[in-house]
Amino acid sequence: MVSSAQPWWQAATIYHIYPRSFADSDGDGIGDLRGIADRLDYLVDLGIDCVWISPIYPSPMADFGYDVADYTGIDPRFGTLADFDALLARAHGRGIRVLLDFVPNHSSDRHDWFVESRSSRDNPKRDWYIWRDPAPDGGPPNNWISDFGGPAWSFDSVTGQYYSRAFLPEQPDLNWRNPAVRSAMLDAMRFWFDRGVDGFRIDVQWHMVKHADFPDNPPNPDYRAGMGDMHRVLQLHSTDQPEVHAIATAMRQQADAYGAVLVGEIYLPIPKLMTYYGTADAPGVHLPFNFQLIEANWNAAELAARIVEYEAALPAGGWPNWVLGNHDRPRIATRVGQAQARVAAMLLLTLRGTPTLYQGDELGLTDAQVPADKVQDPRELREPGLGLGRDPVRTPLPWTAEGGFTTGDPWLPIDPAHLSRNARAQADDPASMLSLYRRLLALRRATPALATGAIGDIRADGDVLTYVRGDGAGRYRIALNLGDRPARVEPGRIILSTHADPGSAILRPAEGHILRPAEGHILKVD
Ligand code: NOJ
Ligand code: MG
Repeated sequence: MVSSAQPWWQAATIYHIYPRSFADSDGDGIGDLRGIADRLDYLVDLGIDCVWISPIYPSPMADFGYDVADYTGIDPRFGTLADFDALLARAHGRGIRVLLDFVPNHSSDRHDWFVESRSSRDNPKRDWYIWRDPAPDGGPPNNWISDFGGPAWSFDSVTGQYYSRAFLPEQPDLNWRNPAVRSAMLDAMRFWFDRGVDGFRIDVQWHMVKHADFPDNPPNPDYRAGMGDMHRVLQLHSTDQPEVHAIATAMRQQADAYGAVLVGEIYLPIPKLMTYYGTADAPGVHLPFNFQLIEANWNAAELAARIVEYEAALPAGGWPNWVLGNHDRPRIATRVGQAQARVAAMLLLTLRGTPTLYQGDELGLTDAQVPADKVQDPRELREPGLGLGRDPVRTPLPWTAEGGFTTGDPWLPIDPAHLSRNARAQADDPASMLSLYRRLLALRRATPALATGAIGDIRADGDVLTYVRGDGAGRYRIALNLGDRPARVEPGRIILSTHADPGSAILRPAEGHILRPAEGHILKVD
């Protein structure tokens, strides 16, 4: 039911900006805040309500901003605090809210806190990070593995101890068991709330607290060569510790005081994911990111099962959310192909809950070919050739047939194959992916049943996935053909098709209501 007390973020659609690759205003080849401000019209025309901007804080860029050297500043490559305030004001003026990316698990090794912490064993900031003695053989304190491969520990010869780092050596893990860390980080969040930020995506929230005794992780019985080194063990003791929830509650209280939203990045199975909503007395984040559509195989039965399982597992009052892709995972158009990517767009924007759309997916971009000598991503450089690198989903947006991203030399090359999918050309083409996204977003905005109404009757019938949105008079059935053959579905009045020519071939009363291959319909149920 739609109630007037509904928080803004429940009906909102979030657009994820990877700022290095969105739009460059100053010709240095790196996207920036003014670039975003200059392109707000594009986002308004697209019809999204909110942007989440990947990290823009001062950073040595060892992990392209996910190594933060100052939680309350702006990296000069992205602009200044004044540029940020101007962007925020302009976005708000256009009705677009702004989420930043908060990176609590680790800072940069160049952060003043870590510089102090590593300087001596008795430095007051020593315990702001996680220091342990070497194992008896001089090796790392336990068998924990970095998500980017190799030990999750780095030895520091200055003080003869190891520090914990779940990602790069340049990303030392903060010690959230230390109350001083907690209050400094909550202060950093408040700094941005006071400037008017509408919320945060929280980086690797489930990593934030580690087991107090640092036991070895158990081996992963399903590990196979090529999966990535991190999968050798199960991250039983290095992630998802119960103490993480009280921290989330403290963040939530602060966010609620500002009417802001928190979206937690959590890659865990559904039952574990649900614990990040917290409880009525101790609420967690508003939206624990739901990666079901990123992890699913693209068939109707599996999708139906995952949607049913996720919906059924939601705690009372827990609001759902859905996402098809992000800056870490292969793009949807590469995973399922261009035709099914249109079906995926309809799925994302007709499920119950807050959708997040990754920049470029609205253009149907595929994973870019990045020449070997242009590789930037530390993930790829550390474990090359396994397909784990993230550069292919981080190349600059093609704005025009010439590129239009920068007047300079882009930090990652635009894939020439992306140029024909440029935003300008697609804006003028009613059959384009961009036009489909615009139609879907406009319909969702105009139709409360689709944005926030109930969902039910979730079914797979052969290759067709169907579900019903809304109740009472405002009911819609969504029918999505995930196969490559025509499929017959229950008849209805077509409100929107994934195909650009909804009138032509659809209603053949003798045969029933036919979906063409890779076609989706939103149908009004009378
Ligand atoms: C998750 C982010 O999405 C990813 O890009 C980053 O490398 C890691 N967290 C470490 O911060
Ligand atoms: Mg720039």
